[in-house]
Amino acid sequence: MTNQLGGLDLLILSSGTGDLNDALDFEIEKRTIDTNVTGFTCVADWAFNYFQNQKSGHLVAISSVGGLRGNRVAPAYNATKAYQINYLEGLRQKATKLNAGIVITDVRPGFVDTAMAKGDGQFWVAPVEKATKQIFEAIMRKKKIVYVTKRWGIVAAILKRIPRQIFDRM
Ligand SMILES: NC(=O)c1ccc[n+]([C@@H]2O[C@H](COP(=O)([O-])OP(=O)(O)OC[C@H]3O[C@@H](n4cnc5c(N)ncnc54)[C@H](OP(=O)(O)O)[C@@H]3O)[C@@H](O)[C@H]2O)c1
Repeated sequence: MTNQLGGLDLLILSSGTGDLNDALDFEIEKRTIDTNVTGFTCVADWAFNYFQNQKSGHLVAISSVGGLRGNRVAPAYNATKAYQINYLEGLRQKATKLNAGIVITDVRPGFVDTAMAKGDGQFWVAPVEKATKQIFEAIMRKKKIVYVTKRWGIVAAILKRIPRQIFDRM
C-alpha cells in the first residue's frame, strides 16, 4: 500500500466512534473501545514502526477535549479519548528518546459539526471547514498538541482545574 502511495511521510489517524450510553449498554462501550483503543493502537503502532525504520515521519491523531475528563453519558468515549491522549504522549516520549525523527501531533477538537457531535448542551460547534483549516495549519507547523478550534484551549484549561467535588455533581 505504501509503495502504491510512493512512500509515506504523514499519517492522519482520524477514525473514531462513540455514542451516548446512559444505560451502560456494553455493546456500545465495546464498539467504542474496539475502534478508539484497539484499532487506534494498531494503526498508531504500525505508523510509528514504519516511521522509525524510515527515520522520519509525522503521525497525527484526532483525540478530543473530551479525553481530559470523564463523562457520565458517554463514559467509554471520554475514557478511550483519554487513552489516546496518554498513548500519544508515550509515543512522543519514545520518539524523542530514540531521536527517531518522528513528530507526533495530538489534535483535540471540542465540538465540530459532524455526525460525531452528539448530545444536548453543545456550544461553540465549529463548522467543518474552520476546524479542518486549523488542523491543517497545526500539521504544517508540526504542533505537538492543538485544540480545535483555538478557543477550546480555554475550555480545556478550565476542565483540567475543576475540583473533583464539583465535577462529580455536574
Ligand atoms: N465532531 C466532533 O465534535 C468531534 C469532537 C472531538 C473529537 N472528534 C474526533 O474526530 C474524529 C473524526 O470524527 P468526525 O467528527 O469527523 O466524525 P465522522 O464524520 O463521524 O467521522 C468518523 C470516521 O471514523 C470512521 N470510523 C468509525 N468507526 C470505524 C471503525 N470501526 N473502523 C474504521 N473507521 C471507523 C468513520 O468511517 P465510516 O464513515 O466508514 O463509518 C468516519 O470516517 C473522531 O476520532 C472523533 O472522535 C470529533
